[in-house]
Amino acid sequence: MSEPRKLYVKSFGCQMNVYDSRRMADTLAPQGYVEIAAADDADLVILNTCHIREKAAEKVYSELGRVRRLKEAAAADGRRVIVAVAGCVAQAEGEEIIRRAPAVDLVFGPQSYHRLPELLARAARAGKAVDTEFPIDDKFDHLAAPTWEATRARGVCAFVTVQEGCDRFCTFCVVPYTRGAEMSRPAAKIIAEIEHLAAAGVREITLIGQNVNAYHGAGPDGRPWSLARLLHRVAEIDRIARLRYTTSHPGDMGDELIAAHRDLPALMPQLHLPVQSGSDRILAAMNRRHTRADYLDIVRRLRAARSDLALTSDFIVGFPGETESDFAATLDLVEQVGFAGAFSFKYSPRPGTPGAEMADQVDEAAKAERLQRLQAAIDRASAAFNRRCLHRTLDVLFERAGRHGGQLVGRSPYLQPVQVAAPAALIGEIVPVTISEIASNSLFGTLAANAARDMARHVERPFVGAGA
Ligand code: 5AD
Ligand code: SF4
Repeated sequence: MSEPRKLYVKSFGCQMNVYDSRRMADTLAPQGYVEIAAADDADLVILNTCHIREKAAEKVYSELGRVRRLKEAAAADGRRVIVAVAGCVAQAEGEEIIRRAPAVDLVFGPQSYHRLPELLARAARAGKAVDTEFPIDDKFDHLAAPTWEATRARGVCAFVTVQEGCDRFCTFCVVPYTRGAEMSRPAAKIIAEIEHLAAAGVREITLIGQNVNAYHGAGPDGRPWSLARLLHRVAEIDRIARLRYTTSHPGDMGDELIAAHRDLPALMPQLHLPVQSGSDRILAAMNRRHTRADYLDIVRRLRAARSDLALTSDFIVGFPGETESDFAATLDLVEQVGFAGAFSFKYSPRPGTPGAEMADQVDEAAKAERLQRLQAAIDRASAAFNRRCLHRTLDVLFERAGRHGGQLVGRSPYLQPVQVAAPAALIGEIVPVTISEIASNSLFGTLAANAARDMARHVERPFVGAGA
C-alpha cells in the first residue's frame, strides 16, 4: 500500500467554514489523505478562508507567508507541498491570490469542494488551478460522507449545513457575492446525515446556514419544509438530545419557528439573532428591512414562547453615516434587550458591496471608540446573564476533557461553557450541574446530587462519542 498523504486544513471565520473543511477532508480521505493537526509535514495545505471583514482576509495573507516558508523548506528536502486557498477569499479574489502569493497552487470557491480530487490532479499536471464557478449541480450530492471513525473523533456536538448563500443583500455584507444565491438542501438528505452522526455518538446538532431561518428545502413529500418543520423532524432522531440553529435574520423569524421554541424540548433556549444596529436610520441604510421596533417585538414574542431564552447578537459600529445619536440608539438597545452575549465589529468596507461606495464613511478613531463602549455594554449584559445562573442547576452536555486532570468541559442549554470535576465516562452525557462559580465568562460547577448518585451507572458503560 502507498504511504498515506498528509492533509492539513486550517479554517478561518464562521462555523460553516469548519463544516466545509471537514467535508473537504472527507472528500479527500478515499484518495489516501489523512488529516493532521499541524502544517509542518503536510503534503497538502488548505486554507479555508473568510472574507467577511478586512482583518479576516489579511490573516490569510500572513498565514500564506508562513506556508510559503514551509513549502520552500520541504522543496529543499525534495518534497512537493501543494498549497490551496479555499472559501470566500478564494471566491472573491480568484487568480489575484496566485499573483500576490505565488506559493499557492490551487484556488477554489465554496461551491467547488466536491471537485477537489479533480482540481488537485489539474494542479499536479498544470502547476496551478483556479475554480470559482457557481456550478449548477449540487455540491452536497458529490461530497463524500465522513467515516464512522472521523465522526466519532470530532466529538458529540456537530454542525450540519442546511442552507447556504443569501438573497438579502445587506449593504455591508459580502456573503451574497461569495456564497451566492440562497440554496436549501432537501430535508431527506439532512435527516440521513444526522442519523449517521447520531449512530456515531453525536448528541447535539446545530443546523447552520448564512440565513438559516430562511430554510425552505424540499420535504420528503416534495413540498417545501420550513426550518421549524425540519427541527421537529430532527428532534425525532434517536439519541439527538439537543438542537440549535444559526445564523438567523430577524425578517425570517416566523410564528412557526417562534412556536418551536415553546413546543420542542430538544430546541435549546438560546438564539443568535443579529440586529447590527439599534438605529432605524442605519438599519434602513444597511437594507436590513426591519426596524428597531420589529426586532424588539420579535424578542418579546420569543420570550413569551420561552421565557429563559438566551439571546445573542452581532453589531456593526461605524456604518457609513452613523452619528453619535445613532450609536446611542444601539447602546440603548443593548440595555433594553439584556443579551447573554454579542459580537461587535467595526464596519469594514467590502469591495463590491453598496456600503463601500457610500459617502460619510466614519473615521477609524470614532469606530474604535464606539466599539470599546459597545463592548463594555455587552460585557456588562453578559456578566449579568451569567450571574443569574449562579447556584442554579443546569443540564450540561459534556464534550471533552478540560485543561486540568479530572475535569470535563461541557455546555449549558444557554451555550455557556461549564467546567466540572467529572469522570471522562460522562463525555456525551447530559448531566445536571450546580453552578458554583463564575470567572471571566466561564462557569464552574459541581455534579448535582442526583447526578453523583447516577454516576456509578454511567461509569460502567463504555464511552460513546469523542476520544478522551
Ligand atoms: N464590516 C463589519 N462587520 C461585518 N459583518 C458582516 N459584514 C461586515 C462588514 N463589512 C458582521 C455582521 C455579521 C457578522 C457575521 O459579521 O455583524 O452579522
Ligand atoms: Fe449578509 Fe446575513 Fe445580510 Fe445575508 S442576511 S446579506 S448573510 S448579513
